Amino acid sequence: MVKPIEFKNVSKTFRHPMKVWDRIEAVKDLSFSMENGEIAGFVGHNGAGKTTAIKMMMGFIWPTAGEIQVNGKDPGDPDVKKSIGFLPERPYFYSQLSGMELLSYFGKLTGIKGTVLRDRSEKLLRRVGLFDDRNRKLSGYSKGMLQRIGLAQALINDPQLVIMDEPMSGLDPIGRREVKEIIRSLKREGKSVVFSSHILADIENLSDRVLIIEKGLMKHFGTVPEIVPPDRIRYKIEFNAPDEMKDAAFSLFKGIRVVSNRFVIDCEDLDDFNVKLTSIVQKGYTVHDAGGVYPSLEEIVFSQSGEVAS
Ligand SMILES: Nc1ncnc2c1ncn2[C@@H]1O[C@H](COP(=O)(O)OP(=O)(O)O)[C@@H](O)[C@H]1O
Ligand SMILES: [Mg+2]
Repeated sequence: MVKPIEFKNVSKTFRHPMKVWDRIEAVKDLSFSMENGEIAGFVGHNGAGKTTAIKMMMGFIWPTAGEIQVNGKDPGDPDVKKSIGFLPERPYFYSQLSGMELLSYFGKLTGIKGTVLRDRSEKLLRRVGLFDDRNRKLSGYSKGMLQRIGLAQALINDPQLVIMDEPMSGLDPIGRREVKEIIRSLKREGKSVVFSSHILADIENLSDRVLIIEKGLMKHFGTVPEIVPPDRIRYKIEFNAPDEMKDAAFSLFKGIRVVSNRFVIDCEDLDDFNVKLTSIVQKGYTVHDAGGVYPSLEEIVFSQSGEVAS
């Protein structure tokens, strides 16, 4: 079966915008392939080469060396473009259009029209939580709403492969969770997803495999436990308590702290986390955030430095 994405020894070198004699090696000898139905996360610092790799998958720019195949074909092939959905890093849409008009515009570009276009647009607007705002101009949308309409735009052609550059960037925890949920639902529908992020925690429970890229070089490619051993994840719960329960909240567990008006408790491990989370919920507190705190990218990349995953 053909792979959704396959890179074979791909490099991309740019000319330096100022110093014409200098070259920037944005991606160096990158080889990897994705399986169908997989969520692959590209993780790396700003400037690591994520957007460059994504632009090459999309056929916007060409590798200086190596070969890329998308669904077994050249990324420039028009058939390939039809089967891909794309969310750019900083989606820029004409701000005078409404959400509905934007979807209608992109839908027509991919050859969808009439009732199919209308039904699909409405379904997508509901899916990204913008149905009630569908007739508002994009100029009045918040950053999170723009990101969500961008997602709907990326899905208008019902693509089998969805490519997203930093879909969670600039969103608050609720927005991040919503985007993650949409990515998960795409996987449930059997679609393949590639997304990039400069935040390691974004991959939590989301990516089947993670590709860590550092200065254009692939450092690791594997499942989350392979890259982030479970004993390196710390678990944390943040919750709120109404005034009358604040005193009781302090005596719930040893080691409770207050950070910016929220109660925070660190957990020993995943079992401890589950026990504490259940108890907090059962006692009627509102959980604000709960999950794994990942080691930083530096810690992951440099704790095994010298070793480049294959
Ligand atoms: N068109 C370009 N011309 C010159 N240098 C570029 C160009 N695009 C990206 N770069 C450089 O390539 C490197 C990787 O950039 P990019 O792929 O955007 O990283 P990321 O998306 O991981 O933040 C950076 O050093 C960036 O400055
Ligand atoms: Mg980028």
